[in-house]
Amino acid sequence: MKLAVFSAKPYDRRYLEGVNSSRSSSVPVQLIFHEFSLSVDTVALARGADAVCVFVNDTLDTPVLESLHGLGVRAVLLRCAGYNNVNLAVAERLGFFVANVPSYSPEAVAEFAIALIQTLNRNTHRAYNRVREGNFSLVGLLGRTLHGKTVGIVGTGRIGLALARILKGFGCHVLAHDPFPTDAFAAYGEYVPLNDLLARSDFVSLHCPLTESTRHIVNADSLGRMKPGAMLVNTSRGGLIQTKAVLAALKGGRLGGLALDVYEGEGALFYNDHSGDIIDDDDLMRLTTFHNVLVCGHQAFFTEEALAEIAESTLRNLDDFVAGVPGRNSLVRDGHLIIRRDSLPVRI
Ligand SMILES: NC(=O)c1ccc[n+]([C@@H]2O[C@H](COP(=O)([O-])OP(=O)(O)OC[C@H]3O[C@@H](n4cnc5c(N)ncnc54)[C@H](O)[C@@H]3O)[C@@H](O)[C@H]2O)c1
Repeated sequence: MKLAVFSAKPYDRRYLEGVNSSRSSSVPVQLIFHEFSLSVDTVALARGADAVCVFVNDTLDTPVLESLHGLGVRAVLLRCAGYNNVNLAVAERLGFFVANVPSYSPEAVAEFAIALIQTLNRNTHRAYNRVREGNFSLVGLLGRTLHGKTVGIVGTGRIGLALARILKGFGCHVLAHDPFPTDAFAAYGEYVPLNDLLARSDFVSLHCPLTESTRHIVNADSLGRMKPGAMLVNTSRGGLIQTKAVLAALKGGRLGGLALDVYEGEGALFYNDHSGDIIDDDDLMRLTTFHNVLVCGHQAFFTEEALAEIAESTLRNLDDFVAGVPGRNSLVRDGHLIIRRDSLPVRI
C-alpha cells in the first residue's frame, strides 16, 4: 500500500514515520513524501500511489480528483478536520474513500484562541517588542480584564465547546450560536441568535466550518452589528471573513482588534518561508500594519499531542480503507457521501 503525502513538512514526516514504524498492520504501508501541495500541477506525483494524504491548503477540485482517479488513486486521507478544500460531490461520484481527522486535540485550537484573545487584549505582542528596544512605557498597552466580559462563540462543535469550558474558568459570560445546538453547552453559557451574539459580545471567536453558507459570515453587515470596539478572532477558516470588510471596520475604528490564525488567501503563502519574497497580497500586508491585528500562519493545531493524534488517526483511516470497512472518520465511502451536505456539516 503506497500513500503519497502532499504538503509534507519535516514534522509530518517525523510523526507519520514514527507511527508507521511502530504499529503492526497486516498490510505494510510505504510512505512517499512530497513537499509540494497537491494541485493540478503536481497531481502527477501521485502516480503509483493507492491513496493520497493531504492538508488544509491542498486542492482537491474536479480536475485534481479526476486526475487522481485516472492514476489509480482510490482514497483521500485528510490529516486535518476541515474538508472545504475537497469537492465531496465529485469524490462521491468517482467512488473515492475520503476520511478526515475530526478531533485531534480540540483543546489545542481552543487554547490557541485564548492565546490570541489575551495577546490582542493585553497587548503582549507590543510589550515584547518594546522591551527588546528598552522601551518600558505602558502607554498604549491598556487592556481589559477578561473576567466578566461577554464572549461569543460561533459554532459549538468540539473546538467551540472546549473554548467555552476554558472561558467559563476565566469567569466570562459565554454566548453561542450554532444551527445544531448541543446540550453539552448548557453548562457553560446560553445560545442566542447570531445577531444578538454580535451585538452583545466583547470578543467574538469563530469555530464553524467553512461551507457555502458560512463563507463571508463576517462581512460589512455583520461587522456593523458588532458591539463597537469588540475584538474578532478566527482560528477556523479564512473564508469565513471578508477581508476587505474587516479592513474597513479596522480603519474606521469600529472593530477593536482582529486576530487571525487563518486567512482567505493563505493558500499562496502559509506553511512556507516567503521572507525573501515580495508578497503580492495587498490586503494581508495592510492587515499587518495595524497594531491591533495579529496574523499567525495557521498554527492553532500545532502541538506535539495533536501531531501524534493526526498521524495515528490518518494511518487508522488508511487501515479502514484497506480493510474496506465503514470508517469511523469517513466522509465519502463506496460512492456515498456520509455527511450532511453543505450547511449541515455534521456526520449522520
Ligand atoms: N486553525 C487550526 O489549526 C484549526 C484546527 C482544527 C480545526 N480548525 C477549524 O475549526 C473548525 C471547527 O472545528 P471543530 O472540530 O470544532 O468542528 P465541529 O464539526 O466539531 O464543529 C463545528 C460546529 O459548527 C457548527 N456550525 C455549522 N454551521 C454553522 C453556522 N452557520 N453558524 C454557527 N455554527 C455553525 C456545527 O453545527 C458544529 O457544531 C473546523 O471546521 C476547521 O475548519 C482549524
